[in-house]
Order: sequence, then C-alpha cells, then structure tokens
Amino acid sequence: MKYDFDKIIDRRNTYSVKYDFIAENGKREDIIPMWIADMDLGTCPNIVSALKERAEHGIFGYTMPKRRYFEAVSGWFSRRSGWQPDPDDFICTPGVVFALNTFIKSLTSEGDAVLVCQPVYYPFASSVKYNKRKLVVSGLIKEGCAYRVDYEDFERKIVENGVKLFILCSPHNPVGRVWRREELIKMGEICLRHNVFVISDEIHSDFVYGENRHIPFPMADGRFKEISAVCTSPSKSFNLAGMQISNIYIPRKDVRKKFEDELDSIGYWEPNVMGVTACYAAYTEGDEWFSDLKEYIYSNLVFAAEYIRKNIPGVTAYVPEGTYLLWLDFSALRLSDGDLTKLTETKAGLWLDDGYIFGEGGSGFERVNAACPRSVLLKALERLERAVKALS
Ligand SMILES: Cc1ncc(COP(=O)(O)O)c(C=O)c1O
Repeated sequence: MKYDFDKIIDRRNTYSVKYDFIAENGKREDIIPMWIADMDLGTCPNIVSALKERAEHGIFGYTMPKRRYFEAVSGWFSRRSGWQPDPDDFICTPGVVFALNTFIKSLTSEGDAVLVCQPVYYPFASSVKYNKRKLVVSGLIKEGCAYRVDYEDFERKIVENGVKLFILCSPHNPVGRVWRREELIKMGEICLRHNVFVISDEIHSDFVYGENRHIPFPMADGRFKEISAVCTSPSKSFNLAGMQISNIYIPRKDVRKKFEDELDSIGYWEPNVMGVTACYAAYTEGDEWFSDLKEYIYSNLVFAAEYIRKNIPGVTAYVPEGTYLLWLDFSALRLSDGDLTKLTETKAGLWLDDGYIFGEGGSGFERVNAACPRSVLLKALERLERAVKALS
C-alpha cells in the first residue's frame, strides 16, 4: 500500500466536532470518539496540494463551478459504477443534509407524508419533522445479520398515508446493506405506481466491498430517472465533510427549478471555493489513493468483526456490504438503552452512536465508525472486551 493510514493524526484544536467538543458534551476526557462519520485518516495528498496552491493564490472571491468541475463529478461516477450522469444535471449544495431539507421543502407541503426505512441515518427523520411534514416509517426486516425491505409494509404505508416522497439510503447507513438491483427495482416500482418521488442518498456509494456493487438508483431501471434525484458528495470518500460541498443530481427540469427556487429563497448562491477545489482534485486525482483507503478500511472492518466474534461474547458483529460503519448487536446482553450507553460510554470509554437514535429497530445496537488507524480500533475493541466481560 502506497499510503500510510496507520499514522495517528492529532485532531484536537482543529474545530473538530469529534475531538474538540468532548468536555462540552460531558464525556470523559480519554473517550475514543467513534460516533460521527468522518475519518481519522488524512485525506489524499493531491487534495492537500491543490488546496495549498489555491490558498497561496490569496484571493477567495465569489465562486461558481465551471462545467469541467461537473464533468469531473460525472467522470468519477462513471469510473466507479458505469453511471454516466449528464454533468449539466448536477447542482452544488453545502451538504447532503442541506439538500434533503431543500428537497423536502421544495417538493412537499406542510403535513405531507415522507417515507423512510428505519433504522436509518437519523437526520432523515429530523429533516422531515423540522419541516413539519409527516414522518412515515417502514421498518427493515432483520434476518440473521442481513436486513431487507418489507415491501408489503412499504407499499401499504405509502397508500395509507398518501406518501409524496421516499428518502432512500443507498448504501444503507447504519445497517451496511448495498441494495441489489432487484431490491431497488421493487422499491422503485412501488414508488412509480403511487407517484412517489425518490431522493436517493448515495453519499456512502464509494464504500462497497467484495462482490457487492453499488447501483445508482436511476440506473436500476430506465424508468427511475424520471422519479428520482441522487445526493452525492466527496465528503465521506475523501474525508472532506468540513469543506461543505456536495453534488446533487436532479435530471428532471421541473424538479430542478423547484429546488433552485428554494435555494434562492434560502439565499444560497455559490459554493465554498475550497470545497470546489478539494472536490475537483478528489475526483480527478484521487482514484489511486481511494482504492488504497478502501482496502485499509475493509481490513479494519474484517479485523473488528473477527475480534468481536472471538473475544466479546454477547456482541454480534458482521462485515457490512458497504459504508465504513459497524452495526453491533448487543441485544443478547439484554440491557436497557440507558444501560447500554453506560456500558459503551462510561465503562468502555467509547463514544458511539446509540442504535435507538436511528429509529425503529435500532434499540440494542451501537454504530461504530471504523475509519481510523488500526491501533485505535484495536484499543477500542480491547476496552469494549474488558467492559463486556466485567458484566458477568
Ligand atoms: C447517509 C448520510 N447522508 C448524509 C450524511 C451527511 O452529509 P452532509 O455532511 O453532506 O450533510 C451522512 C453522514 O454521516 C450520512 O451517513
């Protein structure tokens, strides 16, 4: 491997949400933060060089991405999955959650129903609620370590509630599923039948492992381009969340117009110059680095799952099909949500995302961000092992 992902980089005093707000959040000083989804691994050196060069220019005026920027975005996805989105169909926003909120505001009215499949990334539910829309949940079905959609429930909830919008998480955070083409087709056909527009959040799409293949929602079936938009971003793949840049694919002109009108009403015009610079460098010069990174993260996930299987009785782990997140099942320990947090946080000294915050089906689980140097992951697993063993 050409790049050194074992290197520990001190992130304190960088305004890091993960490292600089430990005391403010009332956590113990030596806690290992593994909750929020950014990586403790340095980004691609080509991005750092591009940012340095741009910083040395010294003028940071109003910025608009040119077509070559969107061609680079499209080029990245065509190299990764064969998807060839038209560069003209992208629009920049300062983040995917921002885009989700903008879609909700522009495509639905107060009181309209929006569907999500839980357990799922918690801002899906909060975006629906903050905008005073009706949250409709179809729970995923868990079979062993795998999760699947309950299509009957999915369709019934759409019909009963007159759902207008479905927010799909693909790959699915936190359960790590990479949806197969036939699964996307089943969901999409139901949405087509009932006039439901699909926002496909594909921010984790670069992290798919082994035989799994990410299929962008509009590519699953020729008819889906008409009923969907796709949220993409370099922020997970290249650790650029603080750059506030995402690229949203909106092929339907009427939907794009509504989205742009909403951006106008918010007063959002141009993206951050450093975000544009970083994203362009990532998508034009980041392939080799990303392929090493993905290999490192995958071996972290395999290592953690094996460690847990061998050493931590009562906790079930599996290697996700996609994302860099582990979804650990503590339900065999029969702890309440509060006691589970006490175990992981107070006793083990790990700051994780408690499963219940992801909604229905999340209780008894913890989400662990495994995108860190192996030595940090090992230290965390050893702490967890000691804390769990001390229960008995
Ligand atoms: C599924 C999903 N969507 C969106 C985001 C956040 O995106 P952004 O930082 O661009 O708002 C995350 C971050 O963890 C995520 O997991």
